[in-house]
Amino acid sequence: MRDISLHVLDIVNNSLEAEAALVEISVEEDTVNNVLRVRIKDDGRGMDRETAKKAADPFYTSRKTRKVGLGLPLLKASCERCGGYFSIKSEPGKGTEIDASFQYDNIDRPPIGDMPETVFSLVILNPSIDFVYSHSYNGQVFTMDTRELKKILKGLPLNTPEVAGWLNGYLKEGISNIMSMP
Ligand SMILES: Nc1ncnc2c1ncn2[C@@H]1O[C@H](COP(=O)(O)OP(=O)(O)O)[C@@H](O)[C@H]1O
Ligand SMILES: [Mg+2]
Repeated sequence: MRDISLHVLDIVNNSLEAEAALVEISVEEDTVNNVLRVRIKDDGRGMDRETAKKAADPFYTSRKTRKVGLGLPLLKASCERCGGYFSIKSEPGKGTEIDASFQYDNIDRPPIGDMPETVFSLVILNPSIDFVYSHSYNGQVFTMDTRELKKILKGLPLNTPEVAGWLNGYLKEGISNIMSMP
């Protein structure tokens, strides 16, 4: 069983391979309605209808290096095993949105894993890409938008050690705050 955060890393890598400039990651924990919903939206090259249909098939990949692409099929299988839904919306030249949900209390639902660490790594390793990360827990929302951070930093890169250290703490604290609010 893979953590949700590892699925997110995988799916975001598809966005990066599709030359996205902006990747939006949303995690919604709704224990009241028993839903965990994860969405990843990008403005990359997108897929035509046929490709989008085939993308969740393990034997489809546009890679030349290996014959199976498992990122999307693994996430889809996990959602479906957990009483959730999985969908791919994509438009050539516009981008792609992956929408995956799970029954929150399903016994097979993977743990969320370390989302702050995952988002931190993505931001630090891809300084030229913008990320919006939004995580909610029963309506309490934490959001990080690198476009806003870059504006405030006035050209100081996000992967400058001092800034990176701050960002790491900001993400960790932000998530733990929404969890502990009543
Ligand atoms: N965000 C995306 N934008 C454009 N194409 C995508 C995106 N995500 C997936 N695809 C297409 O779907 C295929 C399957 O994706 P995936 O299951 O992650 O396997 P892999 O990345 O190993 O090929 C990719 O090879 C690519 O052609
Ligand atoms: Mg992939």
